Amino acid sequence: MTRLLVFDSGVGGLSVASEIRRALAQAEMIYVADDAGFPYGEWEDAALTERVVALVTELIGRYRPDSVVIACNTASTLVLPPLRARFEVPFVGTVPAIKPAAERTRSGVVAVLGTYGTIRRDYTRALIEQFAKDCHVRLVGSGNLAPLAEQHMRGEPVEDAAILAEIAPAFVAIDGRRTDIVSLACTHFPFLLPQFERLAPWPVDWIDPAPAIARRVATVVGEAAAGPGGGEAMLTSGKPWPAALLPRLATLGLAPGAA
Ligand code: DGL
Repeated sequence: MTRLLVFDSGVGGLSVASEIRRALAQAEMIYVADDAGFPYGEWEDAALTERVVALVTELIGRYRPDSVVIACNTASTLVLPPLRARFEVPFVGTVPAIKPAAERTRSGVVAVLGTYGTIRRDYTRALIEQFAKDCHVRLVGSGNLAPLAEQHMRGEPVEDAAILAEIAPAFVAIDGRRTDIVSLACTHFPFLLPQFERLAPWPVDWIDPAPAIARRVATVVGEAAAGPGGGEAMLTSGKPWPAALLPRLATLGLAPGAA
């Protein structure tokens, strides 16, 4: 049996879990959302590192997974090195898709849309330095989009104007060139993609790294991951899952559980 632990601050990691389920139907998935700590984008680095390392340590002890997916850019860009140093289990992280953006752009102007935490990380700057030196990379931090995505996923209405205000800075025009790629560097954001596409000042390609992450997980655990599938989804607050999310969990074969 192959067991995967998929971790995020909230429901964003479900965008990654969907792709993992598509790639590995027979893997058991334990999805843990640290809603008690949400939103991670607002945390100070040292405190967030301490929290996530402690939580993941506890979860690894409890579930003994074959691989751990940190389905959160804000956490991955901080905690992958300390976790990898501590455990032998393979970790798959979620970090801003800057290399694919640099490879795909035709205008040379790309934007990276993430939480404030992800946008100010050295990790993100290093990816730009390594892979996108020749591009104009606009880093756009947002404190509101992840909470708006949570709201949307709970079935509550979200104002178009609130979304547009967050994505507008990603659209830049310089020297007759315009943004043509926006990298979604927060796992919550793909859930708002239809709104992003509708509200965008002009059409761009949006990069959702979830399929690439799922391929990486499949490579790490072996394509033919055996097992009954299924699994559980938990919230660290111990609260019940909002009713609007239950059908989505069911599609992923995840039973709503208690952390
Ligand atoms: N889903 C998370 C990410 O990928 C962050 C949302 C938050 O907790 O602020 O960055």
